Amino acid sequence: MDSILGRATSGWRGGSRDSAADGHAARGGHEARARRDLLLPVLHAVQGRIGFISQPALNYVCKRLTIPPAEAYGVATFYALFATTPRPPIVAHVCDDIACRLAGAETLCGDLERSLGPAGAPAVDGRTTWLRSPCLGLCERAPAAMFTIAGEASATTTAAPIDAVGVATRLSGAAANQAGPGAAANPAGHGASSTDVRSFAPQAGDAGLRLLARVGQVDPADLDAYRAAGGYRALANAIAMGREATIAEVAASRLVGRGGAAFPTGRKWSAVLAAKGEPKYVVCNADESEPGTFKDRVLLEEDPFAIVEAMTIEGFAVGASKGYLYLRGEYPIAGERMANAIALARSAGLLGDDVLGSGVAFDIELRRGAGAYICGEETALFESIEGKRGEPRNKPPFPVEVGLFGKPTAVNNVETLANVLLVLTGGSTGDGRGGGEAFAAIGTEGSTGPKLFCLSGHVALPGVYEVTFGVTLRELLDLAGGVPGGRAIQTILLGGAAGVFVGEEALDTPLTFEATRAIGATLGSGVVMVFDETADLVDTLRRIAQFFRDESCGQCVPCRVGTVRQEELLARLAAARQAPAAARSREAEFELLRDIGQAMRDASICGLGQTASSAIESALGRPGMVAL
Ligand SMILES: Cc1cc2nc3c(=O)[nH]c(=O)nc-3n(C[C@H](O)[C@H](O)[C@H](O)COP(=O)(O)O)c2cc1C
Ligand code: SF4
Ligand code: FES
Repeated sequence: MDSILGRATSGWRGGSRDSAADGHAARGGHEARARRDLLLPVLHAVQGRIGFISQPALNYVCKRLTIPPAEAYGVATFYALFATTPRPPIVAHVCDDIACRLAGAETLCGDLERSLGPAGAPAVDGRTTWLRSPCLGLCERAPAAMFTIAGEASATTTAAPIDAVGVATRLSGAAANQAGPGAAANPAGHGASSTDVRSFAPQAGDAGLRLLARVGQVDPADLDAYRAAGGYRALANAIAMGREATIAEVAASRLVGRGGAAFPTGRKWSAVLAAKGEPKYVVCNADESEPGTFKDRVLLEEDPFAIVEAMTIEGFAVGASKGYLYLRGEYPIAGERMANAIALARSAGLLGDDVLGSGVAFDIELRRGAGAYICGEETALFESIEGKRGEPRNKPPFPVEVGLFGKPTAVNNVETLANVLLVLTGGSTGDGRGGGEAFAAIGTEGSTGPKLFCLSGHVALPGVYEVTFGVTLRELLDLAGGVPGGRAIQTILLGGAAGVFVGEEALDTPLTFEATRAIGATLGSGVVMVFDETADLVDTLRRIAQFFRDESCGQCVPCRVGTVRQEELLARLAAARQAPAAARSREAEFELLRDIGQAMRDASICGLGQTASSAIESALGRPGMVAL
């Protein structure tokens, strides 16, 4: 068991300072209690080694970390990637979420049921099984699957697109040789991808790209190549300018957060700098779990040093010497590459006690999520890093004053941070001064800078696209080759499961915060999912309702109960298509749905409950959109 605790790192090669987990876990007593935050890395290690969190293992962890068993059990059962009952060590997690459904995920799952047995049942050899999964962030190559292999050489890999034969082959290959799918899914290994970059970033290599400039052009495993391509100029500029001037440039850029809430980044940073309380922290929110979203994955996988550099700038600017990168557990390639980038930056003196020889101290710890969408909410994310269930906190107090470990914390989305580099390398003199103003000149008055969008569903060339704010929805769809087969658009989901369905009348809407707000929509996490006339919208709405039901943390009643009632109601509406005579009236159902939505909006603690009915209400409110 000690050896398992010794593996309580992030689970990815290249490592991070998480290896401290072993030392602290082995000490016990007061010192261990002070490291309650090691619980998730340790649970990952146990799960990775034996395939589930066994009772004896959990008891042992509790003893070493001096955590009450009931509390640790509450944590272990909160996260979907942890199992607390025995299950086969090799698991295929097959996405059946909205984009994958459009690409035949239900047929795939049906085929697996016939060939391997029901989801969760051990397959013939007893060593493998398959499970349904929410969105894996590979929507551009749907349908997608993730493979977790427990044992000495534990591994997590992904594959997309994949069919039932592909899933079965990978499972049996892994059973024969535990390294099988690992080697097959990422044959080029550390720092390289076997996937054509244009299959996820169709614009790669185009002149004029800013955020995606290095994608497919600069080796994501090579620090020298990153520096040769202009990397670390932004940090040097920031250090030369000083904290206040750096924050002033970010404020002048009018950059707002790309994680969904659109909060001004400069204002957040100056609030943390001004806040009382030490130490301060920065957190990069790389939990990206909103169905349909995969833009951060592309940045993390293809430009990892940029995220390390931007976090270092943020730490310097707000006066924090420690940063956490909280990465969703379903992103193994991003995990490998970020761990490698952190390690290389550290050995090159770009992280550590004396960053760039400037006397500035900053380091990054990589933390792996465990399959909980709610942990993308910033305060739930803090709870998760602290080793607890990912339950959002009441706000105020806000994270800038009381954040991670109760200290002032600047939390930013991956794409937001990537934009900071543009700000600090912009301006006519190239020393970062004036970069804020130059950035603000891109886009529109209310929405400055470039923006990434995640195109998926019925488009010819799905993937991450970079445009400047103000491009219309029609122009963006044209970039992605439009709807295949000349079919008509039924609807477009903007902003993700927490977003809004719009119709063709929105095609000429500029994609800006202000213009989407004016039509009652949202840019959310940058999702643009297209449904052509053949799509079964009722099926999509039910899956969205199931998603929120499953992902509600259950802490507050309106959301816990409302998401269940909403899903039941959609099931009834779907059933009514088969047996209309037995059904309640559509009007009565719609009214009930609106009531539930209102209660969730008014009384939920966090954004999950407040937006859980948005997409569904938007679809049902649109005449003719959903044929119920
Ligand atoms: C349910 C829920 C899920 C969220 N998931 C994410 C996420 O995966 N990534 C993210 O950056 N922000 C997410 N957010 C927003 C964060 O709470 C926070 O606003 C953001 O990380 C701040 O960074 P920004 O200012 O750079 O956008 C989520 C919010 C809610 C309510
Ligand atoms: S709104 Fe839902 S997810 Fe958010 S705290 Fe309440 S129960 Fe949890
Ligand atoms: S990967 Fe399946 S919906 Fe996103």
